[in-house]
Amino acid sequence: MHTFETIPIDLVEFNPFTKIGKEWGVVTAGTKTKANAMTISWGGVGVLWGKNVVFVFIRDSRYTKEFMDRNEFFSVSFFSKEYRAALNYLGSHSGRDGDKFAESGLTPAYRHSIPYIDEGNFILLCSKLSATRITEDSFLKSNLKEKWYQDGDMHTMYIAEIIDVLAR
Ligand SMILES: Cc1cc2nc3c(=O)[nH]c(=O)nc-3n(C[C@H](O)[C@H](O)[C@H](O)COP(=O)(O)O)c2cc1C
Repeated sequence: MHTFETIPIDLVEFNPFTKIGKEWGVVTAGTKTKANAMTISWGGVGVLWGKNVVFVFIRDSRYTKEFMDRNEFFSVSFFSKEYRAALNYLGSHSGRDGDKFAESGLTPAYRHSIPYIDEGNFILLCSKLSATRITEDSFLKSNLKEKWYQDGDMHTMYIAEIIDVLAR
């Protein structure tokens, strides 16, 4: 079990374009009894409703979505490069078909009962504020539907308050 410290959010240096878009993150949701995790490369951080927030986009088909919907909290974990293969695993296998933690070699850990990945080096602990399913009538550019949603597997946008930042 790694030792993390809590960092004041004002001291956080975080480039969302490289961290999320290129290095990828892992969304983990659930309880101590059962949690699930998946890789994400879409999302962001910002300020909304007077709070520091993160937003992630989870398609209907993801098993993780069931855990997102059932629980008030989730986390987004970030990793050093050596975990790239594990992130590929979490992003290409479903928790419906097996134990993704055992198979990827990653370990769920808990802070305030919120699951995150112990091998991460930077963790956002998040409290859900809103969930909005992005439907076809939301699009203002016509190519988005055909490029990303031909199968109708739409994204839900979860906006969540960042309640703690952990680093090691
Ligand atoms: C690099 C990468 C980025 C991904 N980003 C997202 C994302 O932002 N949203 C999403 O719904 N799925 C994304 N996925 C796909 C899920 O991680 C994948 O479908 C996963 O197997 C879902 O697992 P689950 O069924 O256990 O939830 C991504 C996959 C990879 C490899």
